[in-house]
Amino acid sequence: MLLIRNIRELIQVEKVPRPRVCGQDMASLETVNDAYLVIDRGIITDFGQMKDLDSSPVGRDSTAIQVMDASGRMVMPCWCDSHTHLVFPVSRESEFIDKIRGLSYEEIAKRGGGILNSARRLAEISEEVLLQDALGRIGEIIRYGTGAVEIKSGYGLTFEGEIKMLKVIRRLKEMTPVTIKATFLGAHAIPLEYRSRREKYVDLVVHEMLPYVAGEKLADFADVFCDRGFFTPEETERILSAAVSLGLKPKIHANELDYSGGIQVGVSFGALSVDHLEYTGEEEIEALKGSGTMPTILPGAAFFLGLKPAPARKMIDAGLPLAMASDFNPGSSPSGNMQLILSLGSIIYKLLPEEGINAITINTAYAMDLADSLGSIAVGKKANVLITRPIPSYHYLPYAFGENKVETVILNGEVVSGY
Ligand code: NIG
Ligand code: FE
Repeated sequence: MLLIRNIRELIQVEKVPRPRVCGQDMASLETVNDAYLVIDRGIITDFGQMKDLDSSPVGRDSTAIQVMDASGRMVMPCWCDSHTHLVFPVSRESEFIDKIRGLSYEEIAKRGGGILNSARRLAEISEEVLLQDALGRIGEIIRYGTGAVEIKSGYGLTFEGEIKMLKVIRRLKEMTPVTIKATFLGAHAIPLEYRSRREKYVDLVVHEMLPYVAGEKLADFADVFCDRGFFTPEETERILSAAVSLGLKPKIHANELDYSGGIQVGVSFGALSVDHLEYTGEEEIEALKGSGTMPTILPGAAFFLGLKPAPARKMIDAGLPLAMASDFNPGSSPSGNMQLILSLGSIIYKLLPEEGINAITINTAYAMDLADSLGSIAVGKKANVLITRPIPSYHYLPYAFGENKVETVILNGEVVSGY
């Protein structure tokens, strides 16, 4: 048993856990000042104010417990990062220079760069090297406080390549303490050799890749990049019909480059989330209302590519929930630091700290189908929690955008070290 005592403020506590937080509720965050937290066998079993600790069962019998003192520090749920591509072959800083010189993300992609560049490199790299590199990135995001992460395939774009990526993700699930969900993203880009016969690539995804991936249980979710220059809504429908019939829940890349119809397709297939959303208008907001689909913005990609920001405030004002993820990938968001995402949320999208924290905890847990077990400090949830270094208030988290405010990370009830 682990007792964390003298917590300056215990943040994002829930007596009755909610599956997600919507609209104006996003501006509130429940906290306990001068608090304690008890963890037993990986699960949160109790929390409250220090003044009540003596009358709690742990307070009365404090023999068999490990005690940590969190004076001056905040304790909160670890970040859930519901959208990443953190298994990738190599970084793409030469395209970064192309962008500085004026080329757009789409222009780079049209020349066979971008995702196709990563796919060429992926074919040359061994599963072992992919794994080791990804382990390094997982260590890094844990140090920044991430406790759950979704990872996509999508740099294979061949049967073998996609399976290689999903096998690496499976090994990461087994080897690391972080909670991982795997997403099959065979429909990330049309390979050059299929440019004049796109439907053949969709056939390959639908008839060969998806049945194998589902049969071998290599993925939890299925994704499509439904946007201008990538996959059309009709192609997306074909892929999602097949995915859903095989038991894979959809999560869609949508409306990053245009009003692509991706949000509507995602909603109509009951997608867990639709992600990016720079091109979201009234129609898209209407489609999202009343649905179970989590609108997810990816501030790192919009910042890196200089895109116009998604209308986050409009979505919240319309009563929608909002989530934020890192999109960690070598082409449009080369960072998985969720503290930076929280800061970008406030600086660019004008989210209050409370809205930002809801967007990277409960709402991203929902977008990974993990709301029952993660995303808040609630009795019965998995003990993936972080302890900050001494900071004046939780408002400091988005404010101090350049430093790591996380001092200790606890995953499955154990203090993580060696990462
Ligand atoms: O989410 N938008 C599509 N896919 C990724 C980018 C992947 C890449 O450029 O390597 C994204 O931003
Ligand atoms: Fe992405």
